Amino acid sequence: MNIIGWLALAALAFGAGGCDVNDAPPLHSPEPLDVRLPRNFPPMFVPVDNPTTHEGVALGRKLYYDRRLSPDGSRACADCHLQEHAFSTPLVPGVLPHINLAWSWNFLWDGEFEGSLEEAMIMEVEEFFGTDVERLREPDLEEMFLAAFGSTEITTKRAAYAIAQFQRTLVSRNSRFDDYVADDEAALSESEYRGMELFYSERGECFHCHATSLFTDNRFHNIGLDADVEGTGRGAVTGRASDDGLYKTPTLRNVEMTAPYMHDDRFATLEEVIDFYSEGVIYSDTIDSLIPNVTGGGLQLTAQERLDIVAFLRALTDPVFLSNPDLAQP
Ligand code: HEC
Ligand code: HEC
Repeated sequence: MNIIGWLALAALAFGAGGCDVNDAPPLHSPEPLDVRLPRNFPPMFVPVDNPTTHEGVALGRKLYYDRRLSPDGSRACADCHLQEHAFSTPLVPGVLPHINLAWSWNFLWDGEFEGSLEEAMIMEVEEFFGTDVERLREPDLEEMFLAAFGSTEITTKRAAYAIAQFQRTLVSRNSRFDDYVADDEAALSESEYRGMELFYSERGECFHCHATSLFTDNRFHNIGLDADVEGTGRGAVTGRASDDGLYKTPTLRNVEMTAPYMHDDRFATLEEVIDFYSEGVIYSDTIDSLIPNVTGGGLQLTAQERLDIVAFLRALTDPVFLSNPDLAQP
């Protein structure tokens, strides 16, 4: 036997010395959870130090809905991020939904937070919530931390990592648009189909920013909402004038359920949003070159085109996501 072998044997003997086998801690082997994705989705990045597991997701989901996460027990993530509204709410201004955030690297409307999903969740737990781990030291949660991470040690990092794992399961992929992409040609009505054609056309330009199967490029744009953009949006974070008036492109998945719209909730309905893209566009220095016909106020859509494009946006609603019991309060 080589030296390593002897050392291992010695460690075994030492470990077992005077110790009943039944007292040994249970082996920590959480069960990997494979988040299934359709072929047209980008691959999901999962960091090696936080693999998605059934136990980790269960803990993350528990914490997401648990008011003990806030120091005074007053609120949980799910108080502002409600499943039936695609994890946003009409009741609190500007709430961004939690949809497919596994692919995001810029967070918040002005991108004030840039980094991985894990880092974003650490920020939410430590800075936004100011979680007091003492509050979490209760038997039910300790048991779940043990199952997820192998010991009852509770840290804000572990809490954040578990919530990140839960976020990776918040995948919306079951809209009628997805059925259409998966070869069910009857999934879209004629009007929705025409709306889709406009969405993906060089006239509509929507798909450049609301890009890929995620319907966002995760970048920042000034779409022409205001004439005076000085010091607003991304510019307020970076201090660069060229970033003034730029906001994160929101995903359009489940957009029917996330009213009101835009970073400041200025539009109550999708019809109002489309009227804006049609004739409400206002010039400012940083307006995006992808916004069509700025001098003419926008796309100048016909009445039928407006109906079509709104119909297409509603075809991005994912009833499975909005009612999946695996994502609801445990
Ligand atoms: C009081 C309401 C409220 C609570 C509670 C809340 N949020 Fe939010 N959340 C918001 C608002 C408002 C925004 C958008 C803020 C902005 O962009 O400036 C947001 C945005 C986010 C975003 C950015 C999404 C994106 O697309 O960039 C993440 C991630 C997030 N919240 C996670 C959480 C987590 C995790 C919790 C629990 C620890 C939580 N939130 C609790 C209101 C809330
Ligand atoms: C230049 C990039 C760009 C283009 C082109 C674009 N959008 Fe947007 N869209 C954005 C950004 C950025 C926002 C958020 C702006 C804000 O709040 O200040 C947004 C917001 C929206 C919203 C509101 C979503 C919400 O949750 O608040 C809808 C709906 C929308 N766009 C649909 C469309 C449609 C339909 C088209 C094509 C006619 C289109 N967009 C073209 C970047 C773009």
